Amino acid sequence: MSSARTNTTQVHFDPYDHAVHDDPYPYYARLRQHAPVYYNEEHGYWLLSKWDDCYAAFRDVATFSSIAGPALEAQQDANAGYPMFINMDPPDHTRIRKLIQPLMLPQRIKVLEQYIRDKAVSLLTPHLGNGYMDLTQDFAALLPMDVISTMIHVPEPDQDMVRGWADDLIYREDGQFGLNERNINAYFAMGNYFDELATEMSEKLQGEDDIFSAVLQAERQGQLTHKDVIGFGILLAIAGNETTTKLIGNMSYRLWQHKDQRQLLINDPSLMGKAVEETLRFDGSTQMIGRQVMKDVEIRGCKLKAGERVGLCIISASRDEEKFDNANSFDITRGSRDHMAFGKGIHSCVGASLARLEVAVCMEEILRLIPDYEIDEAGLQRTHNPNVRGFTHVPISFTPRK
Ligand code: HEM
Repeated sequence: MSSARTNTTQVHFDPYDHAVHDDPYPYYARLRQHAPVYYNEEHGYWLLSKWDDCYAAFRDVATFSSIAGPALEAQQDANAGYPMFINMDPPDHTRIRKLIQPLMLPQRIKVLEQYIRDKAVSLLTPHLGNGYMDLTQDFAALLPMDVISTMIHVPEPDQDMVRGWADDLIYREDGQFGLNERNINAYFAMGNYFDELATEMSEKLQGEDDIFSAVLQAERQGQLTHKDVIGFGILLAIAGNETTTKLIGNMSYRLWQHKDQRQLLINDPSLMGKAVEETLRFDGSTQMIGRQVMKDVEIRGCKLKAGERVGLCIISASRDEEKFDNANSFDITRGSRDHMAFGKGIHSCVGASLARLEVAVCMEEILRLIPDYEIDEAGLQRTHNPNVRGFTHVPISFTPRK
């Protein structure tokens, strides 16, 4: 469909189209070339696909607000149920983020490394003798939830249930725009769960040093409301779970596709940090981040009006040819840190250190224990969501070992 508002008639982009989810990169290349500021009339949103434009929008929080949430679809009152600081602008955002950020710094997160490694090995080991497994269902979907659960005190028997709600929350039917009953029910089920958990934990609290205890402590001191605490539990269970799971799948897939790069990494494991960064740049697990336009603004000759919705397409920005040399080649020695996979500016991912550590440790253990894995491409299945990018099923086979 052509648009009167965008700067081209040559491109139509539907972020709900399953064909787009399979391989969005050619679509984004066309958008960057012909319609870097794209307007979709059918759903009524703008899309920015160039690195510079996304960067400027992330930095200009007065014009591009988070109050209607980070999903492409605006949530009319994103903080009405359980407030989450991802849905806030300064000064509220600044106040809550300040409480959390020190607990998520690399030196604090580093203590989890051995736990993550042991968990990764314990999840892979039962499958080693079989020579096949589903790398998402049997491994990548389980580990991040387990790690988050240790941080927010979700007991092991409850983890599948909480992960199920997180999955339901982001699930989109083909062509679905906006939230459906399944998404909303999952949100409230999680709310009830974290309400009970927080109340129970708060009664036992004795100055523990972990992230959820710090949040409960802040509630006791009147810095947060009980609803803020519930929102925080839901936010971590969603933000810290799905994205990391999907990045492990994306990285396993890209290393399998580019076997020379996989071999390079096996030969020199010290490249792991760079390989994770390159996966974040080349095939990040968050596609786009939504913002609400607060005042009229012009970008590349296009006029965005107050009240409109805009998607900052970060996986397109990370492939912008004007920003990265050979942007479409997967090169684990590249060492670029200027990708946009974790966003930019005041909302940039507070869990980035944890995500980097989890993905690096998981990939180290995969390459150590099953270095010759082959993916059954016909069995790959994807999540269909405009914001999340990655697989729900990654069937692999490998040489069985005792
Ligand atoms: C590969 C994994 C991950 C990716 C790709 C990712 C991506 C992102 C992105 C793009 C944002 C910016 C949202 C915005 O600008 O509105 C963000 C924010 C956030 N992420 Fe992550 N994330 C990942 C892992 C994690 C983990 C492991 C955690 C927590 C344990 C986490 C917690 C958060 C939180 C709480 C925010 C909100 C920060 C704020 O609003 O100030 N993320 N993430």
